[in-house]
Amino acid sequence: MPRLNGKHALVTGGARGIGRAIAERFIAEGAVVTIADIREPEGQRAADAFGARFTRMDVTDADAWESAVAEAWTRQPIDVLVNNAGAVISFDPLEKTSVETFRHVVDLNLTSCFLGMRTVIPRMLEAGCGSVINISSISGVVGHDVAPAYQAAKGGVRTLTKNAAVTFAARGVRVNSIHPGIIATPMVAEQPAWATEAFVAATPMGAPGEPDDIAHAAVYLAGEESRFVTGAEMYVDGGFVAQ
Ligand SMILES: NC(=O)c1ccc[n+]([C@@H]2O[C@H](COP(=O)([O-])OP(=O)(O)OC[C@H]3O[C@@H](n4cnc5c(N)ncnc54)[C@H](O)[C@@H]3O)[C@@H](O)[C@H]2O)c1
Repeated sequence: MPRLNGKHALVTGGARGIGRAIAERFIAEGAVVTIADIREPEGQRAADAFGARFTRMDVTDADAWESAVAEAWTRQPIDVLVNNAGAVISFDPLEKTSVETFRHVVDLNLTSCFLGMRTVIPRMLEAGCGSVINISSISGVVGHDVAPAYQAAKGGVRTLTKNAAVTFAARGVRVNSIHPGIIATPMVAEQPAWATEAFVAATPMGAPGEPDDIAHAAVYLAGEESRFVTGAEMYVDGGFVAQ
């Protein structure tokens, strides 16, 4: 029996990288998947490749959330929300980070998770169940000397997850966070090589993980095997945070 048989999952940022791997793995486990992304041709191609549905949505836009979720719900109620879309944007240290950059990075990585949960969870409560997975990072837990806005945002995702977990635990909606270490995705391929090299060097396993490593963790948190798990932070990081 597939582990996510018949469940409908909305995966943000599913056009490429970790989100795409989650969408593909969910479908392999029997789920119906809606990919929401700003990358239109890439998102449509990904959806066509493995039988998902694509909707264009900017995760920082509250109105876009409302219409995309309302439309996806008419297809089938959403059982699983994966707030995955996000990006580092800037590796500058704190003193060189502009106010505009800080706000933009927080909006993209943290406010997006708030908007997604605020839009989807009330509908899940009516249905009486649901699983939300917020993609944070090792950068949401330990300090680096670069990317302060991304660190602040991902740290916020970690505690916002726990807030929602406690708020909705008795009403059937579970909320957990996954904290990837360095994972070989298009985002990482596009970032400065020195940053990737530094993260790989600081990873006890000595190599980046694959998007599918995160997708396997997401399957567990999406399905019934994790029915007693909420507010958890799952590290998939080659030992980075264990140090
Ligand atoms: N790759 C890593 O090493 C790593 C490590 C820790 C955490 N993460 C987190 O994992 C998530 C996925 O990262 P990835 O490496 O796969 O990145 P990626 O850039 O390869 O993919 C991210 C996807 O999000 C989409 N996206 C970006 N802004 C969006 C917006 N405003 N609205 C809708 N979609 C948008 C992009 O179009 C893209 O398809 C991010 O939240 C990232 O912060 C990644």
